[in-house]
Amino acid sequence: MTADNVKLPFRGYDLPSMQVDLRESWLIGPVEIPTRLVLAPMAGVSVQAFRRQGRRFGAGLVCSEMVSCAGLSHRNEKTLGYLRIAADEHPLAVQIFGGEPGVMAEAARMVEDAGADLVDINFGCPVRKVTKTGAGATCLDEPDRACRIVEAVAEAISIPVSVKMRRGILNGSRTCLDVGPRLVEAGAATLTLHPRSARQMYTGEADHSLTAELVELVDVPVIASGDIVSRAKAQTVLATTGAEAVMVGRAAQGNPWALSEIMGENDDPTREEVVAELVLFIRETVRELGEHRATGFLKKFYGWYLGQLGARRITGPLKQELVQLATLAEVEQRLFVAAPGARFVLERLEDELPQGDEVLLDLPISIYGGG
Ligand SMILES: Cc1cc2nc3c(=O)[nH]c(=O)nc-3n(C[C@H](O)[C@H](O)[C@H](O)COP(=O)(O)O)c2cc1C
Repeated sequence: MTADNVKLPFRGYDLPSMQVDLRESWLIGPVEIPTRLVLAPMAGVSVQAFRRQGRRFGAGLVCSEMVSCAGLSHRNEKTLGYLRIAADEHPLAVQIFGGEPGVMAEAARMVEDAGADLVDINFGCPVRKVTKTGAGATCLDEPDRACRIVEAVAEAISIPVSVKMRRGILNGSRTCLDVGPRLVEAGAATLTLHPRSARQMYTGEADHSLTAELVELVDVPVIASGDIVSRAKAQTVLATTGAEAVMVGRAAQGNPWALSEIMGENDDPTREEVVAELVLFIRETVRELGEHRATGFLKKFYGWYLGQLGARRITGPLKQELVQLATLAEVEQRLFVAAPGARFVLERLEDELPQGDEVLLDLPISIYGGG
């Protein structure tokens, strides 16, 4: 293949080895994304501590979990709280979901005013509580409405609009290939594809041959989401699909070192580093959600973090202890007993954390989610 007939999917690649430089910056409209690694939005996971940590470990773009536009009209939604945006999260995409173009446009304006760099629209959530309101993945089966939503949002704001979607509703669906180009025409500046069907939820495999097909069909950057768990997988997906970036979700839960591995660093974390990151995560989440909400919310993170320390037969009992402790102060104490040196690592991490004003977005974080 000569340089002249290199096709779009191979943009920016070192052709002889097909190694993609993950540290290369790229653009979504005018917004520069410093690396080709994107941290996925995950309801119940992507709190501010997760997003800030993701940026520190190499993500060029981080995404908030879904905020609900329905909250605009009836404010009695069950919510995890309201989104805070800190200075070191940028570039940040804030994800909104809803089924009404006008309401989505209003929410998008609030997101822009709060200082987000992108507004991301969720057309991927498979959860019934969301789809039955006409939001999430169900929009893929109503492309006219989906386009009206994107158009209304794009007209309402001056920052770029992105759309995150699944392959379609039913197994084997190729709907994303019909809808994707129409969403771009309607104003989407980038598309993220998680090529599983809504029916599949998170079972089976993400079929990235669809990502490659979508890349061929649109002239905006495509982000590949689904099953990116290692540098090898990231490189393969980037090289074989032509996607501009990869998005990492579950692999980064309690494991920011998965992000640095994907970026090319191979050092396993020490016990002190794992404990320090977990304690920082706890402290930041308490600051964001308050002690009461944070206590239950954080339980699932203990096992995820301790999983980085090796054999489950050693970490399992510690996890069991942590989830039963009544207060987060006791959790911290117990963790410091397991790794006393973590106090010094934590001190350094806290010193390096930028302080500054935060903006509060007056839209409720959805307790449901998915995509
Ligand atoms: C617990 C959980 C919550 C999720 N919440 C959202 C969400 O709010 N919005 C969204 O677009 N995708 C959501 N997703 C989907 C992820 O962003 C991602 O597309 C999917 O998990 C596939 O990537 P992975 O294999 O790297 O996890 C969620 C996934 C999980 C596991």
